[in-house]
Amino acid sequence: MRLGVLTGGGDCPGLNAVIRAVVRKEIRDFGGTVFGFYNGWSGVVANEGEELDVLGLRGTLPRGGTVLGTSRDTPYRTEDGLELAKQTIKDRGIDALIVIGGEGTLSCANRIQEDGVVNVVGVPKTIDNDVGGTERTFGFDTAVAIATDAIDRLHTTAESHNRVMVVEVMGRNVGHIAVWAGMAGGATLTLIPEEPFDIKRVCEALSRRHNAGKFASIVVVAEGAQPLPGTMDIAEPTIDEFGHRRLGGIADAVAQEVERRTGFESRVTVLGHVQRGGTPTPFDRVLCTRFGVGAVEAAHERNFGTMVAMNNGMINTVPLAEATAELKTVHPQIWSAAKTFFA
Ligand code: F6P
Repeated sequence: MRLGVLTGGGDCPGLNAVIRAVVRKEIRDFGGTVFGFYNGWSGVVANEGEELDVLGLRGTLPRGGTVLGTSRDTPYRTEDGLELAKQTIKDRGIDALIVIGGEGTLSCANRIQEDGVVNVVGVPKTIDNDVGGTERTFGFDTAVAIATDAIDRLHTTAESHNRVMVVEVMGRNVGHIAVWAGMAGGATLTLIPEEPFDIKRVCEALSRRHNAGKFASIVVVAEGAQPLPGTMDIAEPTIDEFGHRRLGGIADAVAQEVERRTGFESRVTVLGHVQRGGTPTPFDRVLCTRFGVGAVEAAHERNFGTMVAMNNGMINTVPLAEATAELKTVHPQIWSAAKTFFA
């Protein structure tokens, strides 16, 4: 088979591990070829990319980022984008396209399949872990490890200074990273987009803890966390050229409000893109490798319009339409366990 592969959306540790697995499986086991498109869907529209081979991808398993580059673009953004994409697929002789991306990229893949442009198989990527139909997206485990390490480090300095440390982690619509890292790092409180918070109750909880003689606290805030309407002012996010909200700043707002209301000295740490950089954890390397192999197998089974997924620890496929229908939010069971340890 002649496969195409692209990486779209925000980058994430493990992208190269998936590309490597796709190339290895297709070339070594099926005797086919793989063409890598540059910069997500932009490379399909512009017909830009390169032939991939096993040798050329040596050493990429642990390397962060993506050797193909990425973007948030889609062929539907411009009038002639779709026609150009069709032409590229024809010119390059692509039988199936492996699309590695998050919710936006995979929704586009579903549309591309429905519009008959090319047969696709998706691979769920995002540190946010918010793609439906799969227990895990790759990159999440690495992001949680990075955020947990940061929280561990913040504990000691918080204790030295008797400070409240407010840590902002990624998670634009869901709080998976915040909940996992918060639980792993022993956070005093965790604020997530799924449950708008009441700053008054946040301050009460911190004061209770203070009055009990524990003067240092860690508050983990997902970047998409929102106060209950009318309880606190926050800045409106700006919008990027692809209509994506650019978040960030909620930790600052929370820390200022905590300091103003309680008088407790507060500091802010925004982990930002550090969570997306560097080498993937062993778990993510294995997940990426299994996803890549699974995606090639799905293509050879002509199981198109699907996404590889992990459920009950095993790799399976789910329809892309189902996986992208709604975001996967934090399960109430995990949230309830996390809350048991709140101040
Ligand atoms: O979608 C993944 C994510 O990491 C979000 O949590 C975050 O809001 C976003 O990417 C930021 O992406 P960028 O700065 O690359 O636009």
